[in-house]
Amino acid sequence: MAGRFSPVWLDELRARADIVTLVSEYVALKQNGRRYWGLCPFHTEKTASFSVDADRQVYHCFGCKAGGSAIQFVMDIERLEFPEAVRHIAERVNMPLPELVNDPQYERTRSLKERIYAANKAAAHWYHERLWTPEGEEMLDYLHGRGLDDATIRRFGLGASGSGWGESSSLTRALAAQGFSVEELVQAGLVSAKNERTYDMFRQRALFPIISAHGQVLGFGGRAMGDAQPKYLNTAETPVFNKRLGVYAINLLRKVRNLRRVVLVEGYMDVVSLSQHGAVGVLATLGTALTAEQARLIKRYAPEVWVAYDGDTAGQQAILRALDVLEAEEAPAKVLTFADAKDPDDFIRAKGIAAFEALKPQDGVVYRMDHLAQSYDLSEESGRVEYAKACAAVLRKVREPVELENHVRHLSLMTGFSRDVLVAQIGRGAAGVTTQANYVPRRSPLSPPASALPDHLKAERSLLTLLSAKRIDKSLLEDVEFTDPLYQELTHRLMEGSTPSAILDEVADEAEKRAIAEIFGTELKGEEEQALQIASDCLARMRRYRIEQRITALRQEIETATAEGKRGLMAQVVALMEELKRLKAGRKE
Ligand code: UTP
Ligand code: MN
Repeated sequence: MAGRFSPVWLDELRARADIVTLVSEYVALKQNGRRYWGLCPFHTEKTASFSVDADRQVYHCFGCKAGGSAIQFVMDIERLEFPEAVRHIAERVNMPLPELVNDPQYERTRSLKERIYAANKAAAHWYHERLWTPEGEEMLDYLHGRGLDDATIRRFGLGASGSGWGESSSLTRALAAQGFSVEELVQAGLVSAKNERTYDMFRQRALFPIISAHGQVLGFGGRAMGDAQPKYLNTAETPVFNKRLGVYAINLLRKVRNLRRVVLVEGYMDVVSLSQHGAVGVLATLGTALTAEQARLIKRYAPEVWVAYDGDTAGQQAILRALDVLEAEEAPAKVLTFADAKDPDDFIRAKGIAAFEALKPQDGVVYRMDHLAQSYDLSEESGRVEYAKACAAVLRKVREPVELENHVRHLSLMTGFSRDVLVAQIGRGAAGVTTQANYVPRRSPLSPPASALPDHLKAERSLLTLLSAKRIDKSLLEDVEFTDPLYQELTHRLMEGSTPSAILDEVADEAEKRAIAEIFGTELKGEEEQALQIASDCLARMRRYRIEQRITALRQEIETATAEGKRGLMAQVVALMEELKRLKAGRKE
């Protein structure tokens, strides 16, 4: 969030940065009027659907829906957090950083977070050193026994927590000596306090520090020795750690460029082991199923995500769920399976890196179809029918016609149904259409295409688009009420003088940001010459909608009104109908 820099200063920064200049450093842009077009740097494409708008100082990709301000662009392409992106741009345009805005609440949480990061870092160092002391002997032996060498142990900063008791073994004592208060250590999830007593959270475990893309230690995963439970203990939720958001080993990806795929595995140990053997771009979630937030984070690092979970039944279910999540985030996903091995760690230790690199990933759709095949008896006609139906439901989601064709051909071989019959079956699920027209790209449900909106919302949206490019004067919208609260809010902000890019920078929710970037990033047909005409059409449409709403409400009232009341209400309806007629006639002239 924009919290710490003043809005005025940020406006100045965005103006000086000029989004066209900035984006040009990364993307070859071609000018077309006030807009610039290029190949989107955030997804793979062959025709340019990435546009930069010089008037509004925003970018928007019509393909992957990425969008935002100049600052957002730098955040995404350089993988920086907001303040870092701001600093990055400030340096580039030679603008001195301002005195930070004095916000006590902000300062308090910021300093707590910084203390937690500092405590975690100190803890990570301390745990790491413990490995080479008698306290850590059992854990070091364990890690060696799992095939890890010292270089790998250092690279991942693995550590050991001792018994937790006594002078040399207590993290609480060690960090207290470094100036951390018990309260801070509790907040960091490193220490637990109960009945006036404190004890180390991690005891007798091998520790995997979980580090953010920017090198901050967020928390730890701790592997028990022997059969102690739980097998893995993770840091509880803290102001800096949320296991649904973090991704293990993402810190190692920062410097990696042109990664063809990331490999998503289930466990910490899989990541470390694959990496030791030379695999690059291996990540894991933190003991929970893949979340949408994690999928979004991961997909920024490579054009494909290969899911490489354990081969057991639970693993297969987890693969299907991960595919769902990745697909919903429009991240191209594939699946790696390991024939005999239990998990990736077992596989690479048994077969080595060359065999791992030689593994061919399965397309997500093929994986689903193969998985479904296990549930039907394909030697029976009824089994083939049900299997074909189930696969059709999967294939309905395929965006690319050529890919769909391949899958259909395969399914035809498996079931004996002709290609045309299968295509018809696939078409049945999509509202009433049974032809090739079903090959439409799927969209995120959060940003319905503008064409799917009801008329009055389309009108509201178009007005916003015009206002954001200053094609119409804001006085035109002074007394206009929008039915959509988001549109209303955005209009207010623009009328108060906020720039589109500033507004975008303040939106925290990713889906909302993309939806707004699309509104600001679109150009209406004839926008430049006929802005006023378009606007007055929109206003008329909105007025009509409001009148229609009032009429509907009145009609409902009439149902239950007294005879006398009915007459009065009817008169109102008639008057409104007249007004509606005039409005419609006015439009035709
Ligand atoms: P596994 O039990 O498959 O781990 O859990 P693994 O890597 O094969 O374990 P080793 O090889 O016996 O050491 C996979 C992941 O699930 C989470 C951890 O993130 C682990 O890496 N997990 C597992 C927990 O969070 N808690 C548990 O008790 C077990
Ligand atoms: Mn394992």
